[in-house]
Amino acid sequence: MAKLLPLLLLLALILTVSEAHDYREALKKSLLFFEGQRSGKLPADQRLTWRGDSALRDGAAEGVDLTGGYYDAGDNVKFGFPMAFTATLLSWSVIDFGRNMGDELGEALRAVRWATDYILKATSVPETVFVQVGDAFRDHACWERPEDMDTPRSVYKVTRAHPGSDVAGESAAALAAASLVFRLRDPPYSRRLLDRAAQVFEFADKYRGAYSSSLGSAVCPFYCDFDGYKDELLWAAAWLHKASRRREYREYILRNEAILGAGENIYEFGWDNKHAGINVLISKEVLMGKADYLASFKNNANSFVCSLLPGLSTSQVQYSPGGLLVKAGGSNMQHVTSLSFLLLAYSNYLSHAGAAVQCGGAPVTPAALRRLVKRQADYILGDNPLGLSFMVGYGAKFPRRIHHRGSSIPSVRTHPSPIGCKAGTAFYLSQDPNPNLLIGAVVGGPNTTDGFPDSRPYFQQSEPTTYINAPLVGILAYLSSHAL
Ligand SMILES: *[C@@H]1O[C@H](CO)[C@@H](O)[C@H](O)[C@H]1NC(C)=O
Repeated sequence: MAKLLPLLLLLALILTVSEAHDYREALKKSLLFFEGQRSGKLPADQRLTWRGDSALRDGAAEGVDLTGGYYDAGDNVKFGFPMAFTATLLSWSVIDFGRNMGDELGEALRAVRWATDYILKATSVPETVFVQVGDAFRDHACWERPEDMDTPRSVYKVTRAHPGSDVAGESAAALAAASLVFRLRDPPYSRRLLDRAAQVFEFADKYRGAYSSSLGSAVCPFYCDFDGYKDELLWAAAWLHKASRRREYREYILRNEAILGAGENIYEFGWDNKHAGINVLISKEVLMGKADYLASFKNNANSFVCSLLPGLSTSQVQYSPGGLLVKAGGSNMQHVTSLSFLLLAYSNYLSHAGAAVQCGGAPVTPAALRRLVKRQADYILGDNPLGLSFMVGYGAKFPRRIHHRGSSIPSVRTHPSPIGCKAGTAFYLSQDPNPNLLIGAVVGGPNTTDGFPDSRPYFQQSEPTTYINAPLVGILAYLSSHAL
């Protein structure tokens, strides 16, 4: 089977009818999705008009303004850990691919700012990060529109006594990355972001611990920190170094490279595990010849890249018969988009340096990496055995019963009277398509054999998340302006 798989994959690549995709359209939609996830007071130019204001008193019980930000997925909780990761990846998308975004650049900037405005609020009290708003158990026990929400909007925070270096580190990374996005476009905002990033990082590093230990069942099993907090400290330092060019961060990376395990878990990247991202991010400087002393990061990044390519002795991941990258764990599409993003970013760093990667002695060109990325994006957009686009509103066939409360219950515009916690269940169980299109939402995706039930209860397959879309924004921007 191991030998057969590359052959099958090749066959799938050839047999799949490949239409040219409208990546610009897909990019536009991938950004529209973020408007559907907005919490707080919506602006007058909100384009997904079936949504209304929600959670306008978030934080009030704690005496802080925590309105705004994004709901992570199909529920109505604001989870700070994945939200910060979303902001970091949206920022990275703009930093590397903003020049490819054309008219959509403005929307991408707004998507970043909607997150960072919130992260600034969540970090406004020194040595405190407000990491979640909403009791996740109570929220999940209801099927309710965000506009109707009547479950406890409990506020959770990490502090000196109850630390969370993971979520604080990711918040610092997000603020630093966004400071690069706004450096020339809004210098005062950029400085505010960078100053705050430095403060939050100091707090994360000085008071160490995993937020799952501090907050327990408030955050677990939802966004439990399984992977530990060391990777977020390195990740934050890497972004702070990139944004500030200050020596202290470079020295921090060098001093802590081994202590914080830069060479561990190097094949992983997502809201919990930053390792592959750290290595790719830092490798850019190595490839530009500016940081030979960080060469080990490039070696790790090379190993990571080699692990993803099918048909090599170094391959570590599986592909579905139809050609989609498959990793263990729920919501497979998050792996597809985040790992593909790293491949694409790295292929560009390699190209600029005129370099290639050796995978077990076989040379792999940057162009080969980009072809794999394009194949994954095309699968998402409909080049797959089902001929189904996994992005809502893109293509002729797409998921109609996504696991998303707001999308599946009639809109407050057409049905203004409240629909209570349990009254929503009828909509959850209904076989009807969702009444509101969450345009641009990319769902968890098919199973390992390319099957997709299009059913709300199958949340691992039918639920969209902000961290599936954030890296896809960069990928679609690139593909929209490069013929491969
Ligand atoms: C994948 O989904 C299809 C359709 O829902 C189903 O028939 C198939 O058994 C599933 N495969 C696996 C491995 O779960």
